[in-house]
Amino acid sequence: MKNIKHSWAEPYKIKMVELLKMTTPAQRKKAMQDAGYNTFLLKSEDVYIDLLTDSGTSAMSDRQWAGMMMGDEAYAGSRNFYHLESVVKDIYGYKYLIPTHQGRGAENILSKILIKKGDIIPGNMYFTTTRLHQELAGGKFEDIIIDEAHDPENDFPFKGNIDLNKLDKLIKKYGAKRIPYVSMATSVNMAGGQPISMKNLKELRAFTKKHGIRVIHDMTRVAENAYFIQQKEKGYKDKTIREIVKEINSYTDGATMSAKKDALVNIGGFLAVNDWDVFEEARNMVVVYEGLHTYGGLAGRDMEAMAIGIGESVNDDHIKARVGQVIYLGEKMLEYNVPIVTPIGGHGIFVDAKKFLPHISQDQFPAQTLAAEVYLDAGIRTMERGVVSAGRKANGENYYPKLELVRFTIPRRVYTQAHMDVIAESVARVYERRNKIKGMKMIYEPKYLRFFQAKFEKL
Ligand code: F0G
Repeated sequence: MKNIKHSWAEPYKIKMVELLKMTTPAQRKKAMQDAGYNTFLLKSEDVYIDLLTDSGTSAMSDRQWAGMMMGDEAYAGSRNFYHLESVVKDIYGYKYLIPTHQGRGAENILSKILIKKGDIIPGNMYFTTTRLHQELAGGKFEDIIIDEAHDPENDFPFKGNIDLNKLDKLIKKYGAKRIPYVSMATSVNMAGGQPISMKNLKELRAFTKKHGIRVIHDMTRVAENAYFIQQKEKGYKDKTIREIVKEINSYTDGATMSAKKDALVNIGGFLAVNDWDVFEEARNMVVVYEGLHTYGGLAGRDMEAMAIGIGESVNDDHIKARVGQVIYLGEKMLEYNVPIVTPIGGHGIFVDAKKFLPHISQDQFPAQTLAAEVYLDAGIRTMERGVVSAGRKANGENYYPKLELVRFTIPRRVYTQAHMDVIAESVARVYERRNKIKGMKMIYEPKYLRFFQAKFEKL
C-alpha cells in the first residue's frame, strides 16, 4: 500500500467543450511561413494546442458565468465594482482599488505616478510591459534577482528571490531618493515562473523600510507562488493558500495585477495600494487612460467574473491541480531528456533553447526557431522568451539575456492530461531531429515590444 502514488486530479468536471481543428503538416508549413515564423502572428484557428500564454485563456467556472449575467452596467458606481473592491480588500488585503482593463493599464498609471526622470527601479527580473512602462516614465530598470535565476539548471527552490546585496549596491550608488520602489514579482515569469520565498520577502520589507523605499508587487501569479511556499518553505505546510497570499501582500505597499492569469478571467486587472495619496492620484489618472475609477475600462460583468475568480484562485484544491498539471508536463519532458528550466515553475514549462539547439547562436534566434519547429511538428503554439522578447536598450543595442527559452504556458482549467502527453511527445520528436534545425534572421522589427509582430526568415 505504501508505494501507491497519491495523484492530483482536477477539482471540477467539464460542462461544455470547444472543438479544435486538426491540421496537416502542409497546412502548418504554410501557416508558419505566412506568420513570418512568429507564433504571435498565427491564426488561432490553425493551432491545435495553444500554449502561447496563460493570459486571458483560462476557462471560467459556471459560477463566474452566472456572475457575468449579474453585470451592473452603470457608468458610475456599479455594484460589481463594490463587490470586487471588497474581495481585493478581504482576500488580498490591499486598501484601495483602481480597476484597469488589464495589467499594463495599472503599470502605466503606477509608473507615471511614482517614477521621475532619472529614477532607478530595481526588480526581480524584468517583465516586458512592466519595464517598458518604467522606461517610458523616465526610469531605468535594474535587475536584482539572485544569480541562480539566470542558470536554467540550478535547482534552488526560490529562484525568484531578490539579492539584497545587489539592492544595497544600487542604494549606495544612486541614493535611496532615486529609487521610488522595488518592483517585486511573485512567480517570476521570465525566470520560468520561479517563486520568491516568504523569508526573502520579509527581509526585503525590513531592508526597504530602513531606507524608506516602497515595495510594489506584481501579483499576477501570486497564488501559484503561494503554492510553492506552502510546499517547500519551512513553516508553511499547514497554512492555506489564502493565508499565504495575504501574508505575501502584507509585506508590500501596493500591487499591479493582470487578472487574466491567476484570477481566472479573460480580461481585467487592477492597481491596488495602501497609500491614500497614491490612490488619489491614480483615481485622477485612471479617468484619462482607462475609464471612470469605478470601472477602469471594464464592463460590470468583467468585474463580477474577476471578483468570483479571485476567490476560486486561492482555493487549495484548485492550485494543487493547476500547478500539478504543469509539473506533470515538465516531468514528462525530462523523461525524454528535453532540457528545461528546473525547478519546474508555476505556469508553464520553459525549454532551454540554448541547450536544445547549441549550434544556433543567439543572433540567429534559437528560441524563436524552436517555437516555430514545435508548431510545425504537431500544431502546438508556444512563445519565444529570449533575445527577441528582450528587445533593445535605449541606445539601440540588443539586450542579450542569459536565458533563451521557449515557454509552454498552460492555460488554467483548459487542457487535459492527454493533451500534456501529446505535447511532451511532440517536443521529444523535435529534440530527436534537433541537429538538422537551422536558425533564422529577422526581416521586420517593430519599435516597441518587437516580439509581438517581428517577422523572420529561415537561414
Ligand atoms: N506582469 C506579468 C508578470 C505578466 O506576466 C504580464 C503579462 C503582465 C504583467 C502584463 O499584464 O498582459 O494583463 O497587460 N503577461 C502575459 C504573458 C502577456 O503571456 O506572460 P497584461
